Amino acid sequence: MNFSRRQLLAGLAGLGVVGLAGGARYWLGRTDSSVTHDYELIAAPLDVELVPGHVTPAWAYGGQAPGLELRVRQGDWLRVRFINRLPEPTTIHWHGIRLPLEMDGVPYVSQLPVLPGEHFDYRFQVHDAGSFWYHPHTTSAEQLGRGLVGPLIVEERDGSGFRHERTLCLKNWHVDKQGAFTDFSIAREAARVGTLGLLSSINGRHLPDIELPAGQVVRLRLINVDNTMTYRLNLPGGDARIYALDGNPIAPRPLGKEYWLGPGMRLDLALRVPPAGQQLSLRNGPMRLASLRSIANDEARDDWPAALPANPISEPDLQRAETLRFNFEWSGALSTNVDQGGAYQFWQINGEAWDINDKTCADRPIASLKKNGHYILEFRNLSQYQHPIHLHGMSFKVIGSNRRRIEPYFTDTFLLGKNETARVALVADNPGVWMLHCHVIDHMETGLMAAIEVA
Ligand code: C2O
Ligand code: CU
Ligand code: CU
Repeated sequence: MNFSRRQLLAGLAGLGVVGLAGGARYWLGRTDSSVTHDYELIAAPLDVELVPGHVTPAWAYGGQAPGLELRVRQGDWLRVRFINRLPEPTTIHWHGIRLPLEMDGVPYVSQLPVLPGEHFDYRFQVHDAGSFWYHPHTTSAEQLGRGLVGPLIVEERDGSGFRHERTLCLKNWHVDKQGAFTDFSIAREAARVGTLGLLSSINGRHLPDIELPAGQVVRLRLINVDNTMTYRLNLPGGDARIYALDGNPIAPRPLGKEYWLGPGMRLDLALRVPPAGQQLSLRNGPMRLASLRSIANDEARDDWPAALPANPISEPDLQRAETLRFNFEWSGALSTNVDQGGAYQFWQINGEAWDINDKTCADRPIASLKKNGHYILEFRNLSQYQHPIHLHGMSFKVIGSNRRRIEPYFTDTFLLGKNETARVALVADNPGVWMLHCHVIDHMETGLMAAIEVA
């Protein structure tokens, strides 16, 4: 990819537009036209207290970890001046947002890394409403592990029908009992399920009490910002319905026994809050993540909202779609130069491992799609571990699986089960070189990533 000149221009675009008003550190308010949002977002070290009485040296966006919630209305432009005050280079990737390649945050593909002390202006129009998130795409195990993850909420253009909502970012921190960071990626774990953090949290707090208005219907935006963990979400005794998966609306249906939310995935639930004084446990399998406490409120009781409006994603035509196959495999090969700082390569897509240290990997895309062509991608998992498979730049429609009944839906991340073969379809309507990778971060960093070209 030659990104140099184009990137530099993209990096300068908008310099004159964002006024750095004194005082407003992150949120700069709306300008006179009510359709702009401007944020100044700073990434910087921040000591947080995850374990009572102990300090954890996190990295934060906008003074908090997980990061500041960014909000924009569907159809508007999101304009973020990103300032890097970390001790190392970074980028921001906008997970699930369909945007131009130059704004996608992949180092050496979209842009050069933002060096310490430098800034970069991200500007793009947001087409889809829903729950999204943002994170770096550099030294990911450590940068996401230290807390560089944040919610990006895109409000429905004409309202959602919900009067109450909460964003819940799920993360298991890699810390010990003194709050010190433990390894973000351990080779023998990377070769298996991925390196799990031990301390669960929601919005940066372990086992929080979350207060909700009694009797009301509340939209819970659950965002899995974790490096590794697939949460088996359940809410025993709760009257909850699923309204959207990974940002995209579905016909509302009951939550059921549990929903498996892999890294990178989102679940929008509507919960009918029980009567005042009662509480519910939000759990991961049998483990409690939070208590949802019902607090008296005197508003009129609201109704279950109608289904959310569909996002404007092109409908793939399966009749004329060409099928491309992607095998996800365990390879177990160590790279030959691990001693010299080379990367482990435990995983492969179609027989090739991505080398996280090789800046030129994206020059060799494993598939080339014709612009506006219709495609079926067949994802085949030949391993004993599950992989949340994520595509940048375009959303895809999940159409079938050999292991479960699928109600077709659009997403950007599909949790591919052990030995599962799934079929997803898309219209290749966004030109660029797009990453296709597992969102278990240490799988991605040990081979499970590839580039797909649309031209
Ligand atoms: Cu959250 Cu490359 O993605
Ligand atoms: Cu992404
Ligand atoms: Cu994986």
